[in-house]
Amino acid sequence: MNPLDAKQPSYDSVRAVQWLDAKLRLLDQRVLPHTVSYLDIDSASDTAAAIRDMVVRGAPAIGITAAYGVVLAVRQALTHDPQNWQTRLQADIETLAASRPTAVNLFWALKHMQSCIAQLPAGTDPVNALLAEAQRLHQEDIAANQRMGELGAAFLQQGGKDCALTHCNSGALATGGYGTGLGVIRSAYAKGYIRHVFADETRPWLQGSRLTAWELVEEGIPVSVICEGAAASLMREGRIGWVVVGADRIAANGDTANKVGTYGLAIMARHHGLRFMVVAPTATIDMQAADGRAIPIEQRDASEVLGLGGKTIAANGAQAWNPSFDVTPAELIDVIVTERGVVEKPTTAAMAQLMAGQ
Ligand code: MRU
Repeated sequence: MNPLDAKQPSYDSVRAVQWLDAKLRLLDQRVLPHTVSYLDIDSASDTAAAIRDMVVRGAPAIGITAAYGVVLAVRQALTHDPQNWQTRLQADIETLAASRPTAVNLFWALKHMQSCIAQLPAGTDPVNALLAEAQRLHQEDIAANQRMGELGAAFLQQGGKDCALTHCNSGALATGGYGTGLGVIRSAYAKGYIRHVFADETRPWLQGSRLTAWELVEEGIPVSVICEGAAASLMREGRIGWVVVGADRIAANGDTANKVGTYGLAIMARHHGLRFMVVAPTATIDMQAADGRAIPIEQRDASEVLGLGGKTIAANGAQAWNPSFDVTPAELIDVIVTERGVVEKPTTAAMAQLMAGQ
């Protein structure tokens, strides 16, 4: 089934993660936009491999996928060892946790599912109970994104410019649905606050040109892809009011890890007098990380930088440095939008106040 078959109103038609026929179904983001295909997964180890290999990516989508992965792990453990299934489960949870290091939503979801397991009432069917929990997390993520869309769009309304710039893909593909950064852009477009989106192509994995552009084109939202090197000139043209991005992990002081290149955009935005918005659910906030220095940054294979589409582009013998994320200091962020509310000019105290309202 094409994810766009069941077109819904409000610019919200893509679902990358689904539970179907007792299996986890993932839209394969490695081959989008020109091939729409799905992987049906029924083991925790295949779930971890799908996260590691970026079949599914984006912090909230990784967390939701991991929650379904725990359901699969529990089902496998019960089949193999009904008496000691909880002991057997541990190895699968560790495999899921080792799949990618930066998006804290992965660890948040695993911790949440583990605490559900610890609290299962006697006589409950663990698979059904955990599936219900994973589906609840999934639905909550979509609702959070819609709420953030409303909150964030109000800032774009005040921006006075009819274009926004985004980086990577923080859309329906990266979440349970609707998107974080792209959710704000969807809402702002639906309300008529913006008329055009610029999407950084986002080297080396091209989440911007392949995924964000695909989502926006499918929804009928006008989008122009730019190479990262064009962002400064675009900002100087004066058509952009806001840069809007998602996040993989936000530290207690508001420092934000997101796709590599985000930090550079924030510096350029400040220089040109544009405003910079981070949109993320509170599941992305890691109060244990005092600041950005405590956020682990994933290093990915050099081949991603040295080549394109499986073909080597760089000079033979060249090496590459390929951090997948960078950290934008809180002082460059004008507003963090969460489902619980917004934090303007984030500080440790303001973030703690937001999180205390749990
Ligand atoms: O390497 P990826 O594609 O998983 O990186 C994704 C991003 O950096 C997104 O911007 C982030 O996860 C926010 S998605 C709602």
